[in-house]
Amino acid sequence: MNSPRTYSGRILVLNGVNLGRLGRRRLEVYGGLTLDDIRSELQETFPGTGIDLRQTDHEGEMVAWIHAAAPDGEEGYDGLIINPGAWTHYAYALHDALEMVEMPKVEVHLSNVHAREGWRRESVISPSVDAVIAGMGAFGYRAAVSYVLSRDHAPEPR
Ligand code: DQA
Repeated sequence: MNSPRTYSGRILVLNGVNLGRLGRRRLEVYGGLTLDDIRSELQETFPGTGIDLRQTDHEGEMVAWIHAAAPDGEEGYDGLIINPGAWTHYAYALHDALEMVEMPKVEVHLSNVHAREGWRRESVISPSVDAVIAGMGAFGYRAAVSYVLSRDHAPEPR
């Protein structure tokens, strides 16, 4: 029987295009917190966990971070959370990069993408992750970290 795994280690929280503008961008949709606020909140909520929160507007940089996060990559994280921003809706390269990474993976959206413009309802990222959270605001990141740290996620051997 497989021994239970716990994910108390390091979690990479990736944020894509335009998310560096949080706190100044469509406050009624995305809330008033900045990424720095969200990072602090996660670090306070999960003190024993290594939370590494990053943002980029460059898709190639995002792909490189995902490659490096893989268990056999240069950085080897234990779990990955990603809010790809608008890349969600068309960036097949991110889908393919995530598909190669075997670890608990969660896609997070601050807003409820299903209640907005029709083009936001499609995610080309979702098939490559374990779970999707949308519409919970910054709390969605906390929910995602809880999930990664729990033993209930899909890859857990039972
Ligand atoms: C978003 C939703 C996307 O449609 C949008 O392009 C974003 C942010 C969210 O967090 O709600 O940039 O990913």
